[in-house]
Amino acid sequence: MSRLICVSGLILFALTLVLPTASAAQDTTEARAPDVVYVGSPHDVVAKMLEVAQVKKDDLLYDPGCGDGRICVMAAKKYGCRAVGFDLNPVRIRESLENIKRNGVEKLVRVERKDIFTVDFSEATVVSIYLLPWMNKKLVPQLQKMKPGTRIVAHDYSIEGYPPDKTITMTSKQDAVEHYIYLWTVPLKPAPDAAASADDPDSDDEP
Ligand SMILES: C[S@@+](CC[C@H](N)C(=O)[O-])C[C@H]1O[C@@H](n2cnc3c(N)ncnc32)[C@H](O)[C@@H]1O
Repeated sequence: MSRLICVSGLILFALTLVLPTASAAQDTTEARAPDVVYVGSPHDVVAKMLEVAQVKKDDLLYDPGCGDGRICVMAAKKYGCRAVGFDLNPVRIRESLENIKRNGVEKLVRVERKDIFTVDFSEATVVSIYLLPWMNKKLVPQLQKMKPGTRIVAHDYSIEGYPPDKTITMTSKQDAVEHYIYLWTVPLKPAPDAAASADDPDSDDEP
């Protein structure tokens, strides 16, 4: 896990520096570079994430940082649910649109070029995340506004301070690497020690 964070985290960060900033071509364009580069979840990991989240036909899945839209497309194809992907990179949006068309799920899946930190997640019933740890943490206020019972499924990086309800490890046939899958149900419950220090007036966390 720490090897993954070191290697992929550094590569993701370095590549982010050379990504083009968004153009003003679309209404929802955000004029800044993505916070992490694109690395697609292997398809067998995506399948397991959807299984662990117990996705059903009446779900609405959001994938913030959707890349080529593979999670949304598989959710729609396999379970018949609706899905929305968000990404800042116009190349990823184009790939997602091609992916949606190629798989004939135009009626179920849409993508928006949008900064994930501005997205209202309250309509979603499932959220999938494959982002860097600091991004997961920054999303917490948005995730906590979702309906109770909404499932959050994460690939490889957990949400610091919020122990998952379930952790699965699997070795992908695609890359022969061990992957972690985490599951939470809203509301996210802070780790007992974090909750205790938040309640303690003498806590060192006070300024
Ligand atoms: C590691 S990839 C994950 C792709 C996909 N969810 C998957 O699992 O295959 C992260 C994606 O997040 C996008 N991204 C990074 N920062 C973002 C931001 N602030 N708002 C929207 N998308 C962002 C990147 O462009 C990239 O496509």
